Amino acid sequence: MTETEAVVEQEMLDLAPLHEILEEYKHEKGAVIPVLQKAQGIYGWLPAEVMEAIARGMNVPLSQIYGVVTFYAQFYLTRRGRHIIRQCDGTACHVRGAGRIIDIMEKELNIKAGETTPDYRATYEVVYCLGSCGLAPVAMVDNNVVGHLVPERMVEVVRELD
Ligand code: FES
Repeated sequence: MTETEAVVEQEMLDLAPLHEILEEYKHEKGAVIPVLQKAQGIYGWLPAEVMEAIARGMNVPLSQIYGVVTFYAQFYLTRRGRHIIRQCDGTACHVRGAGRIIDIMEKELNIKAGETTPDYRATYEVVYCLGSCGLAPVAMVDNNVVGHLVPERMVEVVRELD
């Protein structure tokens, strides 16, 4: 098996956990959103294959599933990184140098804000207030708030991620 084939095989979706969820919700009318949320919790995003399985399992048209997923910003139609980094560039963070951190992080990760690294290690997003203005400039790295940032510290935090 070539290396590429091995990666493709590794990345094949295991739909078994999704089928368990569908089994649990199949008689609940209007449970499309919680099912989509749970599915996204498993896969990190909503691949077409997952949405097709949900449409079949919930007995709703695929167009309806797409309608819900594209309406709510909480759902993702493209694959995201293993780590989600959200840099705040709201007013308090901006005046304390968030712009420079963003520039340096774009160079460090070699992507633009809003993108995911080609190896899916990280998704880098810019948001506009994380509700921790007293710690500005602030970022969230997965579920951790990292405050009083300077670019060097941010680079260090990101290099420590697996
Ligand atoms: S502006 Fe950055 S946390 Fe509020």
